[in-house]
Amino acid sequence: MSKETYQLNQDFLWGGAIAAHQAEGAWQAGGKGVSIADVLTAGAHNLPRQITDGVVEGLNYPNHHGIEFYDTYKEDLALMAEMGFKAFRTSIAWTRIFPNGDDAEPNEAGLAFYDDLFDEMHKHGIEPVITLQHFEMPYHLVEAYGGWSNRQVIDLFVRYAEVVFKRYRDKVTYWMTHNEISNQTAISDDPIYQFLVWTNSGIRFDEQATLKDKQEAMVQAGHYELVASARAVKIGHEINPDFVIGGMANVAPFYPATPSPADMLAWQKARQARDWMMDVHVRGEYPSDMEKFFERSGFRPDITDQDREDLRAGVVDYMAISYYNSTTVRAVSDKDAEMEDFGNFEIVKNDYIKTNDWDWGIDPQGLRFTLNEMNELYPGLKIMIVENGIGAYDTIEADGTIHDPYRVDYLREHIREMEKAVVLDGVDVIGFLSWGPIDIVSAGTGEMKKRYGYIYVDLDDMGEGSGQRLKKDSFYWYREVIASGGQTLD
Ligand code: BG6
Repeated sequence: MSKETYQLNQDFLWGGAIAAHQAEGAWQAGGKGVSIADVLTAGAHNLPRQITDGVVEGLNYPNHHGIEFYDTYKEDLALMAEMGFKAFRTSIAWTRIFPNGDDAEPNEAGLAFYDDLFDEMHKHGIEPVITLQHFEMPYHLVEAYGGWSNRQVIDLFVRYAEVVFKRYRDKVTYWMTHNEISNQTAISDDPIYQFLVWTNSGIRFDEQATLKDKQEAMVQAGHYELVASARAVKIGHEINPDFVIGGMANVAPFYPATPSPADMLAWQKARQARDWMMDVHVRGEYPSDMEKFFERSGFRPDITDQDREDLRAGVVDYMAISYYNSTTVRAVSDKDAEMEDFGNFEIVKNDYIKTNDWDWGIDPQGLRFTLNEMNELYPGLKIMIVENGIGAYDTIEADGTIHDPYRVDYLREHIREMEKAVVLDGVDVIGFLSWGPIDIVSAGTGEMKKRYGYIYVDLDDMGEGSGQRLKKDSFYWYREVIASGGQTLD
């Protein structure tokens, strides 16, 4: 039976997304400073990446080479153009602009690099979609200021934002501030939590840190990031009223494990514990459950009246989201799940959902669910999907072809569910940028073999290989999807 087809508007932004630290390499070129991504070693599935004290000789730091996009962006963008990309998301490496974060002047070589990059995109008719902070900040700001736990970092970020907004005033329209800002709300003793808070906020916990210590540090850092984002939004609009500036969050939906009232409440509280940052981005105010948590728990984060004014004055124009999978939770006790209990829930396996080789769930309908949920929470909000895709092992055949039906299947089903959300449910989705259209270094594991691309890059986990680019079968498929405005999926 053939499936329904849906066509999206002509101006829908089809394309792909990467991040500077996973692709550019050239970690010291053109005066670039050391970033928090440059001190992350390679990990693997179930082996967390280590954060080292500075760069230690002899260890493998995959972000140092990425896929050398710093030198290959012209040929890589030509391939994206061949697929018909309307938009391409990447980030600016803060350390190319302010190598230490608190330098007196911006670094001209870094600014010039992004001038060239954005010019090259425009040459192909590709709209840049730019993240200001994607899992990297100057390492110096961690050492000298304690990362985002320090209020002074707000001013340093806003200055960085102002410099790039002015410089690229006529080259970039779509911006977003902090990538997946709410990852760090998933407080736990699992080593992965250290990775999440490091990449979001440049904070490192010592072994004695309790869950309460982590929660307080995270809420404070998150608040400073939200204020910095709001101030950047306001300044951005003053620099160019046509700027479209968003927040960015991973919105993997939560599902309750059963319809038991305890599971339902645990599910709802899990969602609230994560979504307060998005609420602040979109509404400019803390949700009532967070305010009550502050009152009740005696934890008084540094939130000034001026901060509250800034938050109200800098609400985002849209939300950028990543969507990979869903999370199913169940209550662990009969106790209600308040914020100070760090969630009364545990994550459980959902038997209705298959997983990929890295145990990430594959749940296309969850994307429609999540888009509708966001539209209910924030009616009429514009949403751009800026990450979606499947990490998978690819095999090169003897003739150089790469058959990746698993990737096509994953994307086809997700795009179809997104189209239903737009066409049938009326959610205002303005773009679909799949993650890693060209293979890049995995953020979570540092591996190259966890590949998302339509374009294969011949490099292994040690950064060895020819670096040659090869088109996978999915390359031709995505080209048809874009050419048909999303109608030809099968
Ligand atoms: C998102 C990040 O969390 O997931 C990306 O914004 C990341 O930077 C992507 O690459 C996929 O995760 P991973 O670990 O497979 O690279």
